[in-house]
Amino acid sequence: MEGSSSMLDAEAVADLVLLDPLTEESLVQTLQERFRRRDIYTYIGNVVISVNPYQSLPIYTPEKVEEYRNCSFFAVKPHIYAIADDAYRSLRDRDRDQCILITGESGAGKTEASKLVMSYVAAVSSKGEEVNKVKEQLLQSNPVLEAFGNAKTVRNDNSSRFGKYMDIEFDFKGEPLGGVISNYLLEKSRIVRHVKGERNFHIFYQLLAGASPQLLQQLKLRQDCGHYGYLDREGSSLPGMDDAANFHAMQDAMRIIGFSPAEVTELLQVTAVVLKLGNVQLSSSFQASGMEACSISEPQELHEICELIGLEPGMLERALCSRTVKARDETVLTTLTVPQGYYGRDALAKNIYSRLFDWLVKRINASIQVKSDKQRKVMGVLDIYGFEIFQDNGFEQFIINYCNEKLQQIFILMTLKEEQEEYVREGIQWTPVEFFDNSIICNLIENNTTGILAMLDEECLRPGVVNEDTFLTKLNQLLATHKHYESKETQNARRVTDASLPPRCFRIHHYAGKVTYNVTGFIEKNNDLLFRDLSQAMWAAQHALLRSLFPEGDPQKVSLKLPPTAGFQFKSSVAMLMKNLYSKNPNYIRCIKPNDTKSAMVFTPELVLAQVRYLGLLENVRVRRAGYAFRQLYGPFLQRYKMLNAQTWPRWDRGDREGTEVLLAGLEFPAEELAFGHTKIFIRSPRTLFDLERRRQERVAELATLIQKMFRGWRCRTQYQLMRKSQILISAWFRGHRQKNRYKQMKRSALILQAYARGWKARKTYRKYFRSSASTCLANFIYRRLVQKYLVGLAKNLPPLSVTDRTWPPAPYRFLDNTNQELKNIFYHWKCKKYRDQLSASRRAQLQARLCASELFKDKKTLYPKSLQQPFRGEYLGLKQNPKYQKLHAVAKDKLVMADSVRKVNRASGKTVPRLLLLTTEHLVLADPKAAQPKTVLSLSDIRGVSVTRFSDGFLALHLKEVSTVGAKGDFLLVSDHLIELVTRLYQTVEATTGQALPLHITDRFSTRFPKGDVSITVVESPKASTNGPVCKKKGSNKMEVLVY
Ligand SMILES: Nc1ncnc2c1ncn2[C@@H]1O[C@H](COP(=O)(O)OP(=O)(O)OP(=O)(O)O)[C@@H](O)[C@H]1O
Ligand SMILES: [Mg+2]
Repeated sequence: MEGSSSMLDAEAVADLVLLDPLTEESLVQTLQERFRRRDIYTYIGNVVISVNPYQSLPIYTPEKVEEYRNCSFFAVKPHIYAIADDAYRSLRDRDRDQCILITGESGAGKTEASKLVMSYVAAVSSKGEEVNKVKEQLLQSNPVLEAFGNAKTVRNDNSSRFGKYMDIEFDFKGEPLGGVISNYLLEKSRIVRHVKGERNFHIFYQLLAGASPQLLQQLKLRQDCGHYGYLDREGSSLPGMDDAANFHAMQDAMRIIGFSPAEVTELLQVTAVVLKLGNVQLSSSFQASGMEACSISEPQELHEICELIGLEPGMLERALCSRTVKARDETVLTTLTVPQGYYGRDALAKNIYSRLFDWLVKRINASIQVKSDKQRKVMGVLDIYGFEIFQDNGFEQFIINYCNEKLQQIFILMTLKEEQEEYVREGIQWTPVEFFDNSIICNLIENNTTGILAMLDEECLRPGVVNEDTFLTKLNQLLATHKHYESKETQNARRVTDASLPPRCFRIHHYAGKVTYNVTGFIEKNNDLLFRDLSQAMWAAQHALLRSLFPEGDPQKVSLKLPPTAGFQFKSSVAMLMKNLYSKNPNYIRCIKPNDTKSAMVFTPELVLAQVRYLGLLENVRVRRAGYAFRQLYGPFLQRYKMLNAQTWPRWDRGDREGTEVLLAGLEFPAEELAFGHTKIFIRSPRTLFDLERRRQERVAELATLIQKMFRGWRCRTQYQLMRKSQILISAWFRGHRQKNRYKQMKRSALILQAYARGWKARKTYRKYFRSSASTCLANFIYRRLVQKYLVGLAKNLPPLSVTDRTWPPAPYRFLDNTNQELKNIFYHWKCKKYRDQLSASRRAQLQARLCASELFKDKKTLYPKSLQQPFRGEYLGLKQNPKYQKLHAVAKDKLVMADSVRKVNRASGKTVPRLLLLTTEHLVLADPKAAQPKTVLSLSDIRGVSVTRFSDGFLALHLKEVSTVGAKGDFLLVSDHLIELVTRLYQTVEATTGQALPLHITDRFSTRFPKGDVSITVVESPKASTNGPVCKKKGSNKMEVLVY
């Protein structure tokens, strides 16, 4: 594996515990070699050393996160992610609160490291809308705090000018719930003054570069940095830092955290006020009394400030230029000199800004704090300024170095001292390792009575003349013999000549080196006083945020008690931090700065050696090597690993220690890897522990499979048993049901058999009393009786004899239905026959003609219904009576069928002429009415067919066969008033004579054969025809139109 092979690479071991030989040089060399290979992380056990590469390396990708997620610490290359993962897992799985202490010089990469830890934890913890929101808020607190709390210094372009400790809180599943941020000692002197080549806090430059013209106008600011006294008048912009973009990022971050737009505006207004305060200029003037006084020389800026914060300008001017002094019951207004005035102005600016920063942290906390009171686990990340040694060190450096001294103390206590003490306590064989315990230095600074801070406070509170000289004298008196304290005076007493220690200075031998502090400004900075007039003026402003920053300005709450000093406040917050850190499991990231020029991949061994020394890395390695990497009480240890041995799993009834021994004996680790203390088991190398942990994980997986297997088996078994029970129940019911049915059937059959048998027996017994055919006889008798009754009833109730009446009584019994129907038919036929028999011959012929007419015309010609009223008289001319027609009568003799007058249509003109028509059983005769002479005599066999129209008219065409004698004359067109009768009789007669049916066409269009050729006749319905009969019109030579009404 890559990780483990590089771990053992002799030239560049990944864990310095494996370094051989162990000297300062070899240690630095190893770091240098690793750095050359771009391996910036190195371990000492579980402490990570990080060397700032000053260039972005491709080792923070999401793939890397995946690689380190749940990895085994020593199986992969050293990385900050590995320690973050270890801490996070320990928090999540072992329920131990964690803290990650990141230390190192300014520019060594502490802030970057803290961000990497946070982003790693965010990446590996679970996801979800709510959780993501929390993570995002926690991560976004960085750009906001960096804007307000970071600045460019000569050592670091993005130097944190405040200490930060952030508790990230998780629930039992390891999901982030929220967090709490604590801030320590903002370097507020930077507001009013900074060294050449450095900058003020980023926010000022960001605001001027990134704000829109409207926002600048609203804040009454100008974009030009050079305009502002507090900003660097030369190089305001930094290469590689886009202030405008950062401003927008900061605004976005504020929105994500939950700042309202109004809050952001207020925040920026107060920031603008600080910036503008630097431009308030004072000038000296003389009062009437001849005393020097100061006044505002350029009131414009002051007026703008007052407009921004809603304050009467006179009040601010008064507060800046004069001071109210209370002497007994009197208040006296004294004027200030110009330097005093500037001092007050700067103090105000510093106070506003530092209080604003505190407010900002509180506001962020309000958003990210955990709302529920679920049980929480905590991971603290401490990113605090590193040890500082400058040419000229003041109060701030003193405080910062004190804090680092305390952190070193924690480190010593937790890793070196405590560890060694524990070995002794536990009775482990142990050769003590020499290390420097810095509690003497901590005590020198923080001791409640003789500590430097306590004496400084005493000087500040003491009445009478107080200045730094009296303070230094006091120190010299009290600490004259202290090993870690030096000053010109103590040196003189010891007759030491040292030109490097000037007067008005004292020197402390810190664990990390000797630092000379200049006492100038100690008293003032420790007092951190703001003239009451100024705080009252601020409280009087209408600006809600600004006002809330100065609660002591409320005249109602005037307190004569002095506020706690800066030193005192810092000491107590450091004490609280220490308490907090002690309660957690520490993880260390030791940052090292490889060069002073911020250059990529440049390694200055001397510089690194100095840091290696003061970080105590060598001692760290020594103790690590000599000691044990892991220890735990027997109880929890056994509980955690007991599954690794069949004897201790699943239950161990004897003592925990004995159990642990049995357990580890089974695992066959080398004897030197383990030590059994009085209450704890000690494991020497992390690798053994990881091996143990790996085996546990494998075993847990096995056990989980076993539990799953057992559970699945149990579930299937129960399921099966349930199904089986159900199946048995169902089949029992089914069988019962089937048997019951079978039984019922058998019972029914038995009963039938019984009935038959009994019947048979009974019949046998009773046969002697009854004739065997008695029942048939009886049945026949009943049947006959019913039939008789029916017939007699029918005879009495016969329906009327009218042929149109078809009623018939229904059959009284179903078995008589067919008979009844048959009788009904017979009766009807009989009735009809009777009717027919009584008809006369002529009536019969007439009815036959009617029947024939109906068959020919019904529903085919409109004239038919009208003809029903007219009786078929046949003889309309009175041939017998009228002597005029005697000749015709002779022609017809007794063969006459019909005689009528018709009109014949002239085939050439279409006009009609009257004719007499006689139909005999053999001929059809057309005669002239005047002469009563036959004009045309047609044999019936010559008639080929007849055509009539569909309408209510008497038009007919008589088609003749061509072969006949009269055929040459062509077809006849006739109009008759008795058309129906005429055609019917013609039809009947032709049928009777020739034995063939006469073709009859009822149509609107037909063709006729005339001597001059064929003419097609079209029948058209038209009112022009009127009732007189059809009107024929010749249309051209071969078309004729017949208009009918
Ligand atoms: N892991 C890293 N990879 C790349 N560059 C880094 C890394 N760590 C630090 N740097 C670079 O070093 C610069 C300084 O780092 P950082 O601000 O974290 O220092 P610091 O220790 O917090 O200093 P200070 O005490 O002044 O706040 C960063 O701005 C960045 O450019
Ligand atoms: Mg920093």
